[in-house]
Amino acid sequence: MSTPLSWQDPVALQTDVASNGTANMGGITGLEQLAMGAARIRVDDKKIINCRADLNQLVPFKYEWAWKKYLDACANHWMPNEINMAADIALWKDPVGLTDDERIIIKRNLGFFATADSLVANNLVLAVYRHITNPECRQYLLRQAFEEALHTHAYQYIIESLGLDEAEVFNMYREIPSVARKAEWALPFTQSLGDPHFHTGTHANNQRLLRDLIAFYVVFEGIFFYVGFAQILSMGRRNKMVGASEQFQYIMRDESMHMNFGIDVINQIKIENPGLWTTVFQQEMIDLVKEGVDLEFLYAQETMPNGILGLNAPMFKEYLEYIANRRLTQIGLAEQYPGATNPFPWMSEVMDLKKEKNFFETRVIEYQAGGTLAWDE
Ligand SMILES: [Fe+2]
Ligand SMILES: [Fe+2]
Repeated sequence: MSTPLSWQDPVALQTDVASNGTANMGGITGLEQLAMGAARIRVDDKKIINCRADLNQLVPFKYEWAWKKYLDACANHWMPNEINMAADIALWKDPVGLTDDERIIIKRNLGFFATADSLVANNLVLAVYRHITNPECRQYLLRQAFEEALHTHAYQYIIESLGLDEAEVFNMYREIPSVARKAEWALPFTQSLGDPHFHTGTHANNQRLLRDLIAFYVVFEGIFFYVGFAQILSMGRRNKMVGASEQFQYIMRDESMHMNFGIDVINQIKIENPGLWTTVFQQEMIDLVKEGVDLEFLYAQETMPNGILGLNAPMFKEYLEYIANRRLTQIGLAEQYPGATNPFPWMSEVMDLKKEKNFFETRVIEYQAGGTLAWDE
């Protein structure tokens, strides 16, 4: 008679052998052999990284914020193909419906975001998930991964609806410098975590994980998305490309929650591993954020060389500085751009979907309690 599968699972066995020697230092993934009859998990056994308690036990909850974000994200559920694209299609096909500059903005943003969401999804599934050893956080990561799939779906749906050249849009990250640079900047931060030989558990590697989380959650999702969001949403405000705008509104709401989840994780890692947050490391993180601001400003310049109604590239400098100050503060670092104010106060209003639900004359579906959520840009 055979023993239960879990005792024979070759993946589990191989992983156990592979991680032998690193297990005490961290590197736990959840694929280890089951410890039959082991003591029951207590809340205090759980840790955000390098947890040696069983990763397969969602409860008892230790990080209620992570579970709450998972529930909130589910309450925010939406599907791209529920949004009516008829007005966008008519406008796009109308030779005088949009200016050339507006068309560039739409295409470049679809090009950037279509790739960016794949990069984020790959980073989550192939890198980050492995190193976060808290089940309630992993539950949120799984939901986030699905949302990234929805975002890529949304871009595909817009591209298909408008009849754009798919190859042109999906290859921009290899052909358009302003799109390529942001993707190139992010890749090293996921490659190190995705290295099969990489395990957390040492000071240097824990710092590496923390740095990579800041690169993706604070800079990539927290800064690199915001020129595009503002550009597309500003068109929606002028009643142009209302379907695409609405898709971006939903995406921005999701992204805001991704970033805030990431910030909670980052801050929890800092609390549990105070030795990681050295002065040198803090300066490195400040430099990372400033680099992100510079790159995103270049993107603003290259996506709108001439500006469009109500928007021009220089306005984005202050907007990015304002956003960067907020991101820095949220992870406990000093503001780097004194006095920066928000030149686009309407961005906060546009993000309030409940209040704005009649703004776009397209079909809006409100899922469950989605409109009651408090969330931050
Ligand atoms: Fe996304
Ligand atoms: Fe995201």
